[in-house]
Amino acid sequence: MKAVEIKPGIYWVGAIDWAVRDFHGYVTPDGTTYNNYLILDKQITLVDTVKHDFAQVTIDNIKSLTDPSKIVNLVINHIEPDHASSIDRIMSLIPGATIYISEKGKKGLDRYFDTSKWKFTIVKTGDTLNTGKYNLLFLETPMLHWPDSMMTYLKELKLLISQDAFGQHIATSSRFDDEFVECASRAELEDSVIDYYANILMPFGQLIRNKISEIEKLGIEIDMIAPDHGVIWRKEPGSIIQKYLDMANGKASLGVTIVYDTMWHSTEQMTLPIMHGIKDEGVDCKVIKLRSTPTSFVIKEFWKSRGCLIGSPTLNNILFPSIYEFLSHLRGLRPQNRIIGAFGSYGWGGGAVKEAYEEFKRMKLEIFEPGIQVVYKPTFEEEKKCYEFGRLFSKKVKEYHKKFI
Ligand code: FEO
Repeated sequence: MKAVEIKPGIYWVGAIDWAVRDFHGYVTPDGTTYNNYLILDKQITLVDTVKHDFAQVTIDNIKSLTDPSKIVNLVINHIEPDHASSIDRIMSLIPGATIYISEKGKKGLDRYFDTSKWKFTIVKTGDTLNTGKYNLLFLETPMLHWPDSMMTYLKELKLLISQDAFGQHIATSSRFDDEFVECASRAELEDSVIDYYANILMPFGQLIRNKISEIEKLGIEIDMIAPDHGVIWRKEPGSIIQKYLDMANGKASLGVTIVYDTMWHSTEQMTLPIMHGIKDEGVDCKVIKLRSTPTSFVIKEFWKSRGCLIGSPTLNNILFPSIYEFLSHLRGLRPQNRIIGAFGSYGWGGGAVKEAYEEFKRMKLEIFEPGIQVVYKPTFEEEKKCYEFGRLFSKKVKEYHKKFI
């Protein structure tokens, strides 16, 4: 591993986690990176740390540039343990350094560590730190992604160190967007951005819009965005800001994701005619069996499509457990600007489809009613009804989609 200069005197000193596949329940098939940045100026300043397992990696990266004991400032943009759990290791090397952090960040850090001997400067939006050649401007970004979150902007370099925002979970030897696109593909990068946004930032669309507008009003010009995960936006920083605005404003593709589970293949059997009905109305459709698929992947596919259909068998008069778990996970992400409906099968009393709609009503989603359900197993005639259900849903999706064009 080695440090990488991203701007004159500014170095990436982070770590690549090639192995992580479960990021607090979020599946990361491509791993991730924990990015942090060293400012080699008159006052040597470290912005963020890394996950504790990688403390030695970042220390070695810093050592390749300077004696770590020379660091006088530590900026903590975000206290979540993937970025801050090695602070104690770092502070053991620089006990006299000052930590620059938001008020909520300090309160959170007090819960994770014994901070009694550490020096703090609490900062808020507009506060600055001069390190010599460079001036750092702090911007609080509460709830992007935790209440403590903030960003650090280096005015002279037009560099925004954005912590979680604009990140991606990709372990890669490419440090920059253009390098990654050249070695992998733009589509892969875009998919990672959507995956990250859908699973982490979906609830915060309004906050994202407000924060981007605040940054514009402050007249902050951005030449590079350096997030705490994934690649650094060197070539197209404007494109990732626009992508975030688009997602926050409800942009999605004209498509439908069918998410289903099944006990004896009856609900599964319904998906095929429904899918044909959707497709015959000119709308693309993806079918996902929930129990065979990681939830974070399903969340991404949900977020990419304008419409979603949930298929569930009835078990003991209620939703099938995997479907219930998925819907409660989805509700926590506070999805908006999507249309949703339900279908399913049952043996005697029914209940899954009704309960699915009750769950939908707890969310701010456009609801397509009524759902469709069959007893035991769909007959040939009922499969035709499923097809018509798919066509009708598809028409509604197209109509609803027009609101966002
Ligand atoms: Fe990457 Fe909110 O931590």
